[in-house]
Amino acid sequence: MSMTIKPILPRFGAEVSGIDISKPLDAEQQAAVIAAMNQWGVCVYRNTGLDNDSHIRFSQIFGYLERAPSRPGKPPRHGHRELFDAGNLTETGEILQDEALLVHKKGDRLWHTDSSFMDMRSAYSLLLAYEVPREGGQTWFADTRSAYDDLPQSMKDRIAGLEAEHSLWWSRMLAGVPLTEEEIDQRSSARHPLVLHHEGSGRDALYVAAHARDIVGMERDDGRALIRELIEWATQPQYVFSVDWNPGDLVIWDNLASMHRGGDFDERNERRDMRRTTVREGTPPAEPDDPFAVLFSAGLKAPAKTDA
Ligand SMILES: [Fe+2]
Repeated sequence: MSMTIKPILPRFGAEVSGIDISKPLDAEQQAAVIAAMNQWGVCVYRNTGLDNDSHIRFSQIFGYLERAPSRPGKPPRHGHRELFDAGNLTETGEILQDEALLVHKKGDRLWHTDSSFMDMRSAYSLLLAYEVPREGGQTWFADTRSAYDDLPQSMKDRIAGLEAEHSLWWSRMLAGVPLTEEEIDQRSSARHPLVLHHEGSGRDALYVAAHARDIVGMERDDGRALIRELIEWATQPQYVFSVDWNPGDLVIWDNLASMHRGGDFDERNERRDMRRTTVREGTPPAEPDDPFAVLFSAGLKAPAKTDA
């Protein structure tokens, strides 16, 4: 059986079947998987049979995999720094009850692009479901290329050449983490163009979402109004769909062609075990490569007075 692609929206998202991605793929199969991503931006593979090792192996066909922060004396939960925990479980596998961490994770319910707060952007995220809640917990995706295509020319002209400042801490503040603007100023951020050229498709895309805090060179209120306007534009119903998960499902999204957000679920009582690999844009970095450890070195909550 050859690979079958079933579009979800006319221009965005596809369910892919007829290919066993748990086994090593030949060059032709790899090219087909990458081509599907370039065209559709989000690809859903059901009931994959992937495990930690084959998840990582399959992900590597897209490029260099980011590493979760190294923590001395604490080996990664799944034995691989390439696997980021994206569920609601602690290191020992219990349901997370830590209020600060739960609020921090609420930021994932806002429309965002993974790691836009880093200088080195993430290209693909590959999320594999192990345990899913009985209700809710779906993931929503929005098509930032078609949203850009459909913008009025006046808005394309207005945003051409503009850059946004992205901060993880800004989206966490929006989600309820007790941070002040001054504290966010002291933490790391990254600057990226509002419109990016998507190499794999030759199309342009909006690059905004919840981490985007300010527009460089604009009054703060005006910049934030523009960011909100673009997010609202790109999340209109014609650009958006959701994925309901079952264990074994893998969804790949291109952060340079989409936004996403998590759906609500009963996070204090229902288990959700999701593991993510993330492919960085561009060529592999020099070692050691541990930017997330630097990012989180100031802690999740508002820094203490001595922590500036
Ligand atoms: Fe995310």
